Amino acid sequence: MLVVEGIVKGYKESHGLFKKSHKAVLKGVSLAVKQGECVGLIGESGSGKSTLGKIILGIETADAGTISFNGKTSKKAYEKEISVVFQDYTSSVNPRFRVTDVIGEALGESITCKNEKRAYILSLLEEVGLSEAFSERYAHELSGGQLQRVCIARAIATKPKFILLDEAVSSLDVSVQLQILELLKNLKEKHNLSYLFITHDVMCVTYLCDRVIFFKEGECVESVEKMEDLKHISHPYSVSLLKAVEALEIPDFC
Ligand SMILES: Nc1ncnc2c1ncn2[C@@H]1O[C@H](COP(=O)(O)OP(=O)(O)OP(=O)(O)O)[C@@H](O)[C@H]1O
Ligand SMILES: [Mg+2]
Repeated sequence: MLVVEGIVKGYKESHGLFKKSHKAVLKGVSLAVKQGECVGLIGESGSGKSTLGKIILGIETADAGTISFNGKTSKKAYEKEISVVFQDYTSSVNPRFRVTDVIGEALGESITCKNEKRAYILSLLEEVGLSEAFSERYAHELSGGQLQRVCIARAIATKPKFILLDEAVSSLDVSVQLQILELLKNLKEKHNLSYLFITHDVMCVTYLCDRVIFFKEGECVESVEKMEDLKHISHPYSVSLLKAVEALEIPDFC
């Protein structure tokens, strides 16, 4: 479905007035996401995960490499089939918009009948676990978890086949994280969605993903095809990420 091949991306960096250097952010990234599959892309801050996401979405252009979606290589041809949920739900939603307008904006002119549009928006809210009462609330009147549910409703409004989730639960506290992960899991099964789940959190990956790719300094360093194989990873970087999670576990004496 989504095939990323040999993506290279760099930025110019300024050091003082005249000195400029080239910073390689992505160094030939290749990966694929099949229909109905959730692939986790896990890596430390600054490793280039969001840059890869932006290239997939067509917000940034790659210096080399190709993205194809169901065989289509032009972003114009596949943009209707993909969607995104970002970490920063507060800046991805206009706080002065009512919930109904946040979702309605994504629909554009695709539904012209007002009543039909309203009924569809209410059905989307119901899908993400929000009652009709939320539709008239302003975005700034919602909690982080509720707002992220609205962002998910907006993301599925256009009936995409693939959703890029860039740190979609990272700003939420752990109990709300779990609720949103559960929602994402249910939506994936119901609509046979594919996800690329970008994160730096191994626990979230084990909860939601079918496969995981470890990402370091712009490169895929290891991939795990089945989550039960996580214990057999060998790259020192992947091992150190897993060890960090183990260290967070509550010690026996508590
Ligand atoms: N538009 C840009 N201009 C210059 N450098 C950029 C630009 N966008 C990203 N970078 C640099 O590319 C590198 C990778 O950034 P990116 O946002 O992709 O990392 P990330 O893995 O998503 O990190 P995080 O986990 O913190 O979100 C960083 O060093 C960043 O400063
Ligand atoms: Mg990022």
